[in-house]
This record gives sequence, C-alpha cells and structure tokens, in this order.
Amino acid sequence: MRKPFIAGNWKMNLLRDSAVALVKGVVDSVQGDDVEVAVCPPAVYLPDCAAVISGSSVGLGAQNMCDQAEGAYTGEVSAAMLTDIGCSYVILGHSERRQYYGETDESVNKKLFAALAGKLVPIVCVGETLQERESGKTADVIATQVKGSLAGLSSEQAATVVVAYEPVWAIGTGKTASPEQAEEVHAQIRGLLGELFGADVAEAIRIQYGGSVKPDNAVELLGQANIDGALVGGASLKADSFAAIVAAAKA
Ligand code: PGA
Repeated sequence: MRKPFIAGNWKMNLLRDSAVALVKGVVDSVQGDDVEVAVCPPAVYLPDCAAVISGSSVGLGAQNMCDQAEGAYTGEVSAAMLTDIGCSYVILGHSERRQYYGETDESVNKKLFAALAGKLVPIVCVGETLQERESGKTADVIATQVKGSLAGLSSEQAATVVVAYEPVWAIGTGKTASPEQAEEVHAQIRGLLGELFGADVAEAIRIQYGGSVKPDNAVELLGQANIDGALVGGASLKADSFAAIVAAAKA
C-alpha cells in the first residue's frame, strides 16, 4: 500500500515573514500520520522553515539543487547542504526548470544521483506540453522523460524515488487534467517503472499528480488507482487550501 504524499511547491513566492507564517499555518492545520506532507519553500527560507517544522510531521524539500557534491560551482547549493539544514526532499526537473533554465533529462539524471548520494528523496517531474498532447505525442514524451531522467538507477535506488506527472499545460493555468487523463498517464508511468525496475518496485513508487490541484478537484484526482499524491503549486500558498488537499488524500 503506497502512502499518499502531498508536497507544496512554493516556487519563487513569499518573503521571510509570509513564508514563516505559511509554514506555521501548515504545521497547525495538517496532521500527517496517514499522509506524508512536505513543503518546498524558496531556498533562502529553508532554514527558517526548518525551525518551524522541527518536531512536526511536516517535511521539508528544496525546489532544485546542484548535480555536483561540492566545489567551485558559483551560485549552486549541494544535496549535503540541503540535508544539513533539514531537507528530506528535492524537486528535480520541474517543467519551469526545463523550460526556463535548460534542464534536460540528462541533467535531471545527474542531479538525481547527487540527490540520492546526499540522502534526499528526489521528486522527479515529467510532463508533456499542450502541443505535444494535441499532436498525440504524450505517451512518447513521457516514456522518453521517465527513461532518461531515471536512467541507470538500481531497483533499490528507484524504490526511494517519487515521480510527479505534471502536464505543462495544466501548471498554473487553472486547467487540470481530468482524472481519466491523469490516470491514463500515471498507469503508463507505472508500467514503464515496471519494465525498468520490476513489478514490485513499480508498485511501491509514489506517482504524484501536479497541475492546478485545488481542494475542489483533489478528491477525484487522488481517488484514481495510480495517483498517489499531489505536487501543489498555487494552492500550497494558503495553509487552508493546502490542508484541504491533504485532507482529500486521507479520504
Ligand atoms: P500549480 O503548480 O498547482 O500552480 O499548477 C504545480 C506545480 O508546478 O508543481
């Protein structure tokens, strides 16, 4: 049985006071015993948020990291630095990083190994653009991204990874994939994971859905057989809507 996992991706929003207020609100409104819950604040506020979540069931994640362990990489943050300040997770290959910062399956794959070496749980994002969906390429795009991003992992390593399916056309647009559209891709991803890592590992890996997840669509999405949680952007910036999505995962 896969434990549902809800993560909030705050992206480049909030300042210190509002970030601390939000994480306090999340800690107060979320009980995470049957659902795994994490927040992913902007990197500079991770230490402030770590202090607030300390002793609670809410986990902490980063939105990005360096593919190298240490050294002369100006401006970068390593996996060891993230674990050092209390992170347990890192989002890798979010579509905004692929779109605006040139990340590719290859660079995501390098970061993935660095994250695992640094004892972080990676949340590896994949998803097709609207143009790719409309031209019937969704399955091919997803297969390429899953195989490329997870290339070279052992089955043991793969079992610790979280995959997030985030159709690019649904991110921040208010357009959600229908539960059927999302489930179709999630089932495909699970099948691919089975081919790559074996059926038992594929059954254990959590696959989150992301893209305009809101309290009012979360129950239906999370009710699908292969949807094991959500990566939430906009609706994670308010403690009450994020808590409502966590509650939907328990339902
Ligand atoms: P959204 O973002 O919920 O605002 O669509 C999701 C994401 O990018 O992870």
